Amino acid sequence: MATSTVQREFDPKNMPFRRLGSSGLRVPLFSLGGWLTLGGSVVGDPVKEIIKTAFEAGINMFDTAETYSAGKSEEEMGRVIRELGFRRSDLVITTKIFWGVRKGPNAGGLSRKHVIEGTQESLARLGLDYVDIIFAHRPDSNVPMEEVVRAFNFVIEKGWAFYWGTSEWSAREIEEAHHVADKFNIIGPVAEQCQHNMFHRERPEKEYAPLYKKYDIGTTVWSPLAGGLLTGKYNDGIPEGSRLATLPMFKNTVDSLQQDEGKEKIRKVRELTKLAQDELHTTPSALALAWVAKNPNTSTVILGASSPEQVTDNLKALEVLPRLTNEIMEKIEKILNNKPVPPTNYGRPALDLMGRL
Ligand SMILES: NC(=O)c1ccc[n+]([C@@H]2O[C@H](COP(=O)([O-])OP(=O)(O)OC[C@H]3O[C@@H](n4cnc5c(N)ncnc54)[C@H](OP(=O)(O)O)[C@@H]3O)[C@@H](O)[C@H]2O)c1
Repeated sequence: MATSTVQREFDPKNMPFRRLGSSGLRVPLFSLGGWLTLGGSVVGDPVKEIIKTAFEAGINMFDTAETYSAGKSEEEMGRVIRELGFRRSDLVITTKIFWGVRKGPNAGGLSRKHVIEGTQESLARLGLDYVDIIFAHRPDSNVPMEEVVRAFNFVIEKGWAFYWGTSEWSAREIEEAHHVADKFNIIGPVAEQCQHNMFHRERPEKEYAPLYKKYDIGTTVWSPLAGGLLTGKYNDGIPEGSRLATLPMFKNTVDSLQQDEGKEKIRKVRELTKLAQDELHTTPSALALAWVAKNPNTSTVILGASSPEQVTDNLKALEVLPRLTNEIMEKIEKILNNKPVPPTNYGRPALDLMGRL
């Protein structure tokens, strides 16, 4: 189908927007990503239905990566954006560079060569002149940090992206990138795309804690439902057609559900399901997503969806969010029993953000 000539108006509906870290960019509290789904398990018109449903519900931010479905995700996203007639300035599009789409010594990683060539190829697949944020999809210990930071600055200077961020970098690596950027008076990473969900908390809640204060970094959170585990759909086995049933890459996850650790997770999801139903009259998915969104360091929660219904279902989290009282949060903590322990201050009283007692 040809590009729509009619521009579709964006209506944010009741979607809250947050600043992305220290930047001026406003991102919707819930965004949509394309890993495994858009261009992968979902192709053609159904991709359009999912993106249209999200957009009409107030989601204007879409995340992809050069590696998702070997470039197909970017192609499908770009095609749908054109066909639906979205106005480019209404959208926040993010992509990620690291893994590349081909094999070869320079076909991946964060060398200046791959960051620049990878970005150009991503834009070509998306059919866009620029993305809003470009992420370094992983750290690359084989490239000097100065080269990485300068390469992303070049991408920004060229107008191919407005901001750059990191994804699954350690706090030490993010600090190093900021030091390099400060030293040369160039632009540092504005956000980290990290995994954060009820079962994955140490890094976003503990390791990064100093970074939120020092650098005001934002987070674009991935796998907020732990790949679907927190929906409760795996409580009684592996349903047909689900991610765990269809993708061989999750064989270890499937196996782990038979082990003590996995069984313990399912036990917790059952309890969370009961809490969601009995006390909030909602779904475990909405509860789990609202819980990530409630974290003040979360900029946006990237939803993954294999159908439009899942998008609609998951946005019920917006209604749940204001109902997450301290009492409910304490009940969740009790069920999860995995709150990261903050570093000790050896008996010295903690100070607040203003440095006061
Ligand atoms: N930077 C990184 O390294 C990185 C890594 C991973 C992901 N990401 C980004 O984060 C996005 C989200 O990650 P994710 O897909 O793992 O998120 P997720 O929310 O943890 O899992 C999404 C999956 O759960 C299932 N699901 C979602 N809502 C459901 C519902 N209401 N009822 C039943 N099942 C439901 C669907 O899978 P099925 O229907 O197929 O079972 C869906 O694809 C990705 O698209 C990508 O943009 C980034």
